[in-house]
Amino acid sequence: MLTKKCVLLFSGKGSNIENLINNQASLNGKLKYVAAFTNNSNAKGIDICSDNDIEVTISDQEELNFNLKKFLSKHKPDLIILAGYMKILPDDIVDKYAGKIINIHPSLLPKYPGLNTYEKVLKNNDLFHGATIHYVDTTLDGGPVILQGKFKIRKKLSIKELEYLTHKVEHKIYPIVVKWIADDLVTVENNIIQFNDKDIHSPITYIVDDLNI
Ligand code: GAR
Repeated sequence: MLTKKCVLLFSGKGSNIENLINNQASLNGKLKYVAAFTNNSNAKGIDICSDNDIEVTISDQEELNFNLKKFLSKHKPDLIILAGYMKILPDDIVDKYAGKIINIHPSLLPKYPGLNTYEKVLKNNDLFHGATIHYVDTTLDGGPVILQGKFKIRKKLSIKELEYLTHKVEHKIYPIVVKWIADDLVTVENNIIQFNDKDIHSPITYIVDDLNI
């Protein structure tokens, strides 16, 4: 069995990378987190990686994409996981690693790409919210969607509460997708998601109905 090499890119708190690392046993050795990269020397995720013996490359802003390219060339990953990596990847990186980069975003894309998602959801009184995992293309938070976790907003929430619930959903769905990829269940061909060798034209949705605030 070949073990897929995966790298983690993050900018902040790192709750998603921590959750993925904690779920690593479920991958049965088919995928391993070999290294991590961050643009933020104060990111909490750095300690999480160090505690788990995952080497982290910390880059300054000026040389960011140069350093990222060097990092990727060194590790030759089969999968690049963006987990709160708040920088736009340059097109040449996206092209070189096409079909190997996935991202999580705290909205039901294509709704609300970019920043300030929670504010927008609450302002619009949305009835549903959630998170999306997608392959990355060269557009902002764009690319074929693999899985969405969706929940009903049952009462008036603060931004913090909505963020808390969304993170709970993210922590449910990211390990699922990584396991699918580790097991070769999910790939992308010509911008279309393939699940178990079948084309998937609308996102797979996980309805989460056990959230408590
Ligand atoms: C997550 O909510 C993730 O969806 C978001 O950053 C947060 C990182 O949290 N990503 C984006 O907004 C990408 N456009 P974490 O550092 O605790 O994993």
